[in-house]
Amino acid sequence: MTTATPVEPQNESATVTLIGDVSSLGRRGVRPPVASSESRRAALDGLPPELRRANPAALPEVSELDAIRHFTRLSQKNFSIDGQFYPLGSCTMKYNPRINEKVAAMPGFLRCHPLQDDADTQGSLRIFHDLQEILCQVLGMGGVTLAPAAGAHGEFAGMAIIRAWHLANNTGRDEVLIPDSAHGTNPASAALAGFKVREIKSGADGRVSVDALRAALGPKTAGIMLTNPNTCGLFETSIREIADAVHEAGGLVYYDGANLNAIVGRARPGDMGFDVVHMNLHKTFSTPHGGGGPGAGPVGVCEKLVPFLPAPHVRKTAEGRFDFHTPDQSIGRMMGFHGNAGVLVRALAYALAQGGQGLWDVAGHAVLNANYVLNRLPALFERPFGDRCMHEALVTIRRTEKETGIKAFDVAKRLLDLGFHAPTIYFPLLVPECFLIEPTETESKETLDQFVAAMEQIAAEVRSAPELLKSAPSTKPTGRLDEVSAAKELNVCCRWDYEEVKLG
Ligand SMILES: Cc1ncc(COP(=O)(O)O)c(C=O)c1O
Repeated sequence: MTTATPVEPQNESATVTLIGDVSSLGRRGVRPPVASSESRRAALDGLPPELRRANPAALPEVSELDAIRHFTRLSQKNFSIDGQFYPLGSCTMKYNPRINEKVAAMPGFLRCHPLQDDADTQGSLRIFHDLQEILCQVLGMGGVTLAPAAGAHGEFAGMAIIRAWHLANNTGRDEVLIPDSAHGTNPASAALAGFKVREIKSGADGRVSVDALRAALGPKTAGIMLTNPNTCGLFETSIREIADAVHEAGGLVYYDGANLNAIVGRARPGDMGFDVVHMNLHKTFSTPHGGGGPGAGPVGVCEKLVPFLPAPHVRKTAEGRFDFHTPDQSIGRMMGFHGNAGVLVRALAYALAQGGQGLWDVAGHAVLNANYVLNRLPALFERPFGDRCMHEALVTIRRTEKETGIKAFDVAKRLLDLGFHAPTIYFPLLVPECFLIEPTETESKETLDQFVAAMEQIAAEVRSAPELLKSAPSTKPTGRLDEVSAAKELNVCCRWDYEEVKLG
């Protein structure tokens, strides 16, 4: 009897293979039917001779099982919500219930074509209509559009509505105030909608300074864009005062509701005095996101702005049917068709499954989880704004960085070694060497405790083994990447080198 040699557990960095490395001559997964010689000749006749291959392409030759194992292994090298804790601040990486996927994949929704007649698509139109109604209630607004395909797209739609309202009323106002804690997309959206952007400074408590705001208001003020809870994870306690001051000065107030997870089911931007609000369904309403979409950034508006909503907008007719219509003073279309329909179906499934009590619990548990992490982290992670937060916890190691040279970046990389996706780092810009940790409501106490334990281990390593942090990650398929080139020399597509193709 032979004894198998024991195999040492491998760390991931040692197991990267390319599909070509497992190729073996003559091995194959499928055998397509052999084409007849006539059809081969016909196919070749259609190809100019200079574009034909002289030799067969050197493709990997693998069995179906080899291919499945290879790609499954590759897919598992990535971090994902299905695999790991993913506390990326400002992103609400909550679990996406599988029932949403099942509903969105029902053939009636999946195969519906945007050019089909309204009469044939009453079911899908009803989905859009019901979601509009639910979001109106959740946001406390007079009307909602589902057209924008992302949060930033929603911001642009909302700011275009504000611009259209000022133009329609000949106010001559073209300046928008934005706090320095705003999400980076806010100033970009306001500028794209034709406004001049003016920054207002936050106070020492991380919130908008009402004095700075009042000083900035004037005859050119068209409005303010405010994120609440703000990007420091704090509720803007003077929110009513801010909304009233901007209204009194003749402006409109815009609520960036991408962080709605903290208040959904409990408080409504409409009740706080806001005129326009966008939300990210791909955050609060649990539709999958990451990797650039697809998402949905519905926009809610107060009654006086309903006529400006984008087209097409779904309405219920007097006969109880549903159709698309263009509001009287509409800003026009946001995209080719009617928004990202699959995301909207998922969001309605989620809203109905949660119900009012479920949404109330979402906000409560999201805030509880963030406060638990904030208060359990070791002292290395200082709290710049005290020991209470909303749905995300902001901490910093600025003092440690000065003393030891260990940066937030090093800690984030070490977390990967310990099996956690890193939190957001260096955002918001107000706080140096910071971490923005958003656990979301879907994580258990056990998972949060494991994360805290990892942060405790890292805090100890800062003194005992700083080289581990400086060289992290050391167990992943790749070490530190050149992040500057990745951001500045963007090349995300497969490039076809046209120079090499000699077209006859
Ligand atoms: C506060 C805030 N506003 C706006 C956005 C933009 O949303 P999107 O990435 O869908 O364009 C985000 C994104 O996470 C956000 O956190």
